[in-house]
Amino acid sequence: MQVAVTGGLGRIGRAVGAELAGHGFETVLVDVAPMREQGPGYRRADLRELWQAVDALDGVDAVVHLAATGVPDSHTVHPELAEGATYTANATSTYNVFQAAAVHGIERVVWASSETVLGPPFRIGGPAHLPLDEAHPVRPETTYALSKATGEGLARYFAHCRAMTLVALRFSVVMDRTDYTALPEYWAEPERGRWNLWSYVDLDDVALSCRLALTAELVGATALTVAAPDTLSDRPTAELLDALGGGVKLTRPLGTFESLQCSAKARELLGWRPTRSWRDVSVS
Ligand SMILES: NC(=O)c1ccc[n+]([C@@H]2O[C@H](COP(=O)([O-])OP(=O)(O)OC[C@H]3O[C@@H](n4cnc5c(N)ncnc54)[C@H](O)[C@@H]3O)[C@@H](O)[C@H]2O)c1
Repeated sequence: MQVAVTGGLGRIGRAVGAELAGHGFETVLVDVAPMREQGPGYRRADLRELWQAVDALDGVDAVVHLAATGVPDSHTVHPELAEGATYTANATSTYNVFQAAAVHGIERVVWASSETVLGPPFRIGGPAHLPLDEAHPVRPETTYALSKATGEGLARYFAHCRAMTLVALRFSVVMDRTDYTALPEYWAEPERGRWNLWSYVDLDDVALSCRLALTAELVGATALTVAAPDTLSDRPTAELLDALGGGVKLTRPLGTFESLQCSAKARELLGWRPTRSWRDVSVS
């Protein structure tokens, strides 16, 4: 199977490319960034242009769509312009990739949504219930999150109108071994993790989720939480709940260091079993 990985030169894109190549997939890395590497495995395209998306996906069997721009710099002089640019770039690119896949008759698209569709950083309202899961209302609070929520709406459209299968993976903050060494600083400021409920997911487990979503027996549009089963905090989850002010409805009891995001649906539908935790790495 030949798979196009958009955003293929980015952090997650490179890990997904390696994961797929290691499991017998042929990959085409699609990115707007200048490509030092050249050859059939690389295609340069600005996915904000539909024709470039259509060219980039020619001949592939499936797509992992990761290309996006992140939350704009908060120090920008005109934040409303930067926020608008983030929304427009991500929503447009996602539409173009889905449409290009439809043009080529590509039936499976796995793509990066985000935990932020459910409310992080929770500046306007707190969670409706915990742990966060697919039953939680979609309540974006930033234009980045809004672009991902729009993507989920677009996915439902293409599933309905073009009979495609689109799997949205709502990644938590993606971390790897090098990030874990900074955790003692993070613990020194317990409030730092509050914005996303002290959640994370390891880069290798993100790549694994993308590979599994390419072949999982699914139809239509599906959105799945992809977070590590534990928190990033060195404090028990009960203390983190206290720090949130209490009063948030718990849908079930939680383990001592259990995450406040629940990936049970990804486990069930993808067979995803996260393999890595910062707790397995020496960080002090
Ligand atoms: N890193 C995280 O913690 C995290 C968490 C949740 C969701 N995500 C999502 O995962 C995806 C990948 O994230 P990442 O951390 O690898 O980001 P990244 O910035 O490292 O990589 C993104 C890549 O997309 C490319 N790109 C951007 N705009 C493009 C365009 N118009 N056309 C073609 N290529 C374009 C960039 O050049 C870059 O190589 C993104 O969709 C992001 O929103 C990331």
